[in-house]
Amino acid sequence: MKILVTGGAGFIGSNFIHYWLKNHPQDKVTNFDKLTYAGNLESLKDLEKNSNYNFIKGDISDPVSVKEAMAGIDIVVNFAAESHVDRSILDPAPFITTNVVGTQILLDAALKNKVRKFHHVSTDEVFGALTLDSKDRFNEETKYSPNSPYAASKAASDHLVRAYFHTFSLPITITNCSNNFGPYQFPEKLISLAITNLLEGKKIPVYGDGLYVRDWLYVEDHCRAIDLVLEKGKIGETYCIGVDNDIPNILIIKKILKTLGFGEEKIEYVKDRPGHDRRYAIDATKIKKDLGWQPKYDFDQALEETVKWYQGNKDWWQKLKDKKFEDYYKRQYVTR
Ligand code: NAD
Ligand code: TYD
Repeated sequence: MKILVTGGAGFIGSNFIHYWLKNHPQDKVTNFDKLTYAGNLESLKDLEKNSNYNFIKGDISDPVSVKEAMAGIDIVVNFAAESHVDRSILDPAPFITTNVVGTQILLDAALKNKVRKFHHVSTDEVFGALTLDSKDRFNEETKYSPNSPYAASKAASDHLVRAYFHTFSLPITITNCSNNFGPYQFPEKLISLAITNLLEGKKIPVYGDGLYVRDWLYVEDHCRAIDLVLEKGKIGETYCIGVDNDIPNILIIKKILKTLGFGEEKIEYVKDRPGHDRRYAIDATKIKKDLGWQPKYDFDQALEETVKWYQGNKDWWQKLKDKKFEDYYKRQYVTR
């Protein structure tokens, strides 16, 4: 089987390629990635000599290179995206080009090449926000109500993927997943930023009151869920992935502080994110019941392992916090 993984040099994509070649060593994986600031081939260094892995530098919004990469492919797994909400607030345009136009170009090429399956990796952020006092959770029937430019661009991409199924019978599946954490995450998201800042002697910036809630999932559990959807998922269907692990940001930060032996003096409350979604939570009953998915990892244990990974892999992340990152950081973080 030949699999085209787009965005395979990013956080989840690189974890997925490692996972896939470990569990399906006979398959051939092509990683198609533009190598934006978030793409890093060092995350896949150990696979350079694996003859079942190859890399193509390319942009999903460029039809010519997408057409070439798609030749002979059986399955497409689309991770490629601009993925950070804060950057989508600073500059929405690349989110539309990659997440919306790029997805449509991939869908067209997949249709022309008659791929066996097109799997689209999406987010729970397309559903908008839940309130802190409700017990509601997002599921496959929840109405789309995206609030950030990032979420709106992912929502548009999901709609296009569904439309290619209904209109052209392209064999698609979609997953909407909660927040991931684990190794190889660019140090801009809450957990990777908090750990690396502490390891650099810096403070952790906390938006607003710190009581925003996310449902944190260990990245390998996400990869296994996608594997199951590829193997047994019903064509044309969506599956929500999450772990009932909704935790306020401030509690996660306190856990990280404790693991690294720091106190609360390392917390810095900063100006809140505009339009900040209060709470995300997922009801993953469908993927559990229909496909037999169960998360394997306990949150506290996986968080400790993740902290250890960043401690042991400074060479991987320190160079990502370069001058360009510092410029972004200065623009993004305003002390209250
Ligand atoms: P990431 O930002 O770490 O990686 C994105 C990758 O896509 C990078 O390697 C980048 O170089 C590549 N890329 C960007 N634009 C491209 C383009 N035009 N053409 C080709 N490649 C391009 O993102 P991630 O956290 O690994 O997320 C992967 C996918 O999962 C995204 O679609 C995201 O929306 C979705 N998702 C992420 C999370 C999360 O918590 N990180 C949760 C749910 C869903
Ligand atoms: P993030 O990791 O950016 O994921 P998302 O916004 O896609 O859910 O943020 C997770 C939560 O942490 C969110 O409520 C915003 C908050 N946050 C901070 O408080 N400080 C930070 O520096 C970052 C990056 C996020």
